[in-house]
Amino acid sequence: MCGIFGYMGSSNAPDIIHQGLKRLEYRGYDSWGISTIENGKIKTTKDVGHLPEKSPIESKSVSTGVGHTRWATHGGVTITNAHPHYSTDNSFVIAQNGIVENYTELKKSLENLGYVFKTQVDTEVIVKLVEHERKSSKTLRDALVKAFKQLDGRNTVIVLDSKQDQILAIRNGSPLILGTKEKDVYLASDPLAFNQYSQNIVEINNGELIEIKDNKYKIYDIYSEKYINRKPREEKQLDIEINKGDYDHYMIKEIVEQKGTILKSTNYSQKELKPLVDRLKKSKSIYTIGAGTAGYSADQIAYYLRKIANLNAISIKSYETESYLNLIDKNDTVIAVSQSGETADTLEAIEILKKQGVYISSIINMPGSTLSRLSDSFFMSNAGSEICVASTKVFTSQISFGYLLSKTVIGKYKEAKKEIYLLSTNLEDFFNNKTFKQIEKITKVLKDKEHFFILGKGQNFHIAQEGALKIKEISYKHFEGFAAGELKHGVIALIEKGTPVISIISNDSNVRDLISATQEVKARGAITIGIGDKQDENCFDYFITVADSNELKSISNVIPFQLISYYLAKELGNNIDKPRNLAKSVTVK
Ligand code: AGP
Ligand code: GLU
Repeated sequence: MCGIFGYMGSSNAPDIIHQGLKRLEYRGYDSWGISTIENGKIKTTKDVGHLPEKSPIESKSVSTGVGHTRWATHGGVTITNAHPHYSTDNSFVIAQNGIVENYTELKKSLENLGYVFKTQVDTEVIVKLVEHERKSSKTLRDALVKAFKQLDGRNTVIVLDSKQDQILAIRNGSPLILGTKEKDVYLASDPLAFNQYSQNIVEINNGELIEIKDNKYKIYDIYSEKYINRKPREEKQLDIEINKGDYDHYMIKEIVEQKGTILKSTNYSQKELKPLVDRLKKSKSIYTIGAGTAGYSADQIAYYLRKIANLNAISIKSYETESYLNLIDKNDTVIAVSQSGETADTLEAIEILKKQGVYISSIINMPGSTLSRLSDSFFMSNAGSEICVASTKVFTSQISFGYLLSKTVIGKYKEAKKEIYLLSTNLEDFFNNKTFKQIEKITKVLKDKEHFFILGKGQNFHIAQEGALKIKEISYKHFEGFAAGELKHGVIALIEKGTPVISIISNDSNVRDLISATQEVKARGAITIGIGDKQDENCFDYFITVADSNELKSISNVIPFQLISYYLAKELGNNIDKPRNLAKSVTVK
């Protein structure tokens, strides 16, 4: 969640840190803070809310500093709680990404030792612990290591030390990556923060500490207590441009890009897919794992593996893996799905499964992520950077890959490629002003309502859930997506005159059930909206006809939800790309 940035080099540190944090802001935008070393002293500028567009710090020839963008876990959104946090003697500051899970116990024992806390944030426990360990340690580095080893939870910490003119950082769980360019060294939660300057990266593993001094970096293993020699490697895929082009928001740009991204995510040859396909055919069971939107992708991929490839595929939410652990062994295959490759819930599940000897294959969008390093094999979803917090193009990239994989298992690779190509062409026609205007008009009907229901079945069940999540995330309206069959078992009690109900209706074997369910809510006064390729004039008050497809209707059908989400949020004046309370990369549990 929080974003961490560190820089030592030949350029203007406040500007570089400001730009780096702007690129990390998707990780949290409750507050921000920048600390630099000036004339041997640490200067800090902090505030709550979004980072200003222009650097808030006057350009100076300052060469070293750290920055942080916060997604609050402990303690309110206040300037006092904003990172970085000072040591009592002001000689160092600390910023953190993660949660100190034993924060209460540590705080109590430090208070008993006489330490006085000024903030409500768990990070202050780290600061005081380092100060305490410093009394019996030779160096600040040793004190940091001793303190860090006492923390429970997934944490990454960065320290700016004015006494030694150095940056220290240490990783356990939350992401950290280093970049270099001639005399410049960058440290960040995500390489996108510095990819405009450098694509030479050094991956940092859990249990490793970084020392940056005199424009050079050293890596130190905190358990073996030895330095590690690791040279940078060039990551070409990091050459990503981040701009909105002619669009008002990243979200709409990313929605429209889907006509191309479904082709890119499935740009794999049969030869490249073969090792995983062979493995799936031999596996006793296949478990797909993810959280949030990636969790719905995992559901949909498992659906394709069952329905198309006739495999025993089960989808698990990564944060609910525990009860399945006894069932999964090395005769199974796990497919992890993640945009960032850094989601704490997913990484933790994968770490446990890996220890059990289970084969892990992943579908990831961000190059160089932790999940890619934990996996036995991985496929990039190649959707390009997704900046809007609400995921759109990556979802359809993941499920189109799952579709291609399932068809390849039954020897129908070419048929799948044709189908994906057909959908891409039809999407080209779908994205036009008429579609946008129609959806905008429907959102005007929805904007004053508070509760909405989405019905789906079969290939559209998880699309109903993802559609609801998408709209909740940026409209802040209460949308529920569920299986149409569930309606009569309870949910129908909530339907009253004027309640909007959206039915996803494809011309498939479930069409009649969907019509019946829609008629049942209509009979109780619901406003009925259909999304799909099977209009029924007696049934729907409004109907959005989707891009034509044979087997990939789930993708055609999810896109109108993304557009409803966009136009509804626009109508309501919400922050579309950075919705309240959310962060794109959920690196805390
Ligand atoms: C997407 O719209 C959400 N913001 C969120 O549910 C996201 O999909 C989830 O946190 C998983 O992230 P990942 O794909 O990076 O693992
Ligand atoms: N626990 C810290 C805070 O609340 C860091 C949160 C995070 O990494 O998301 O500020």
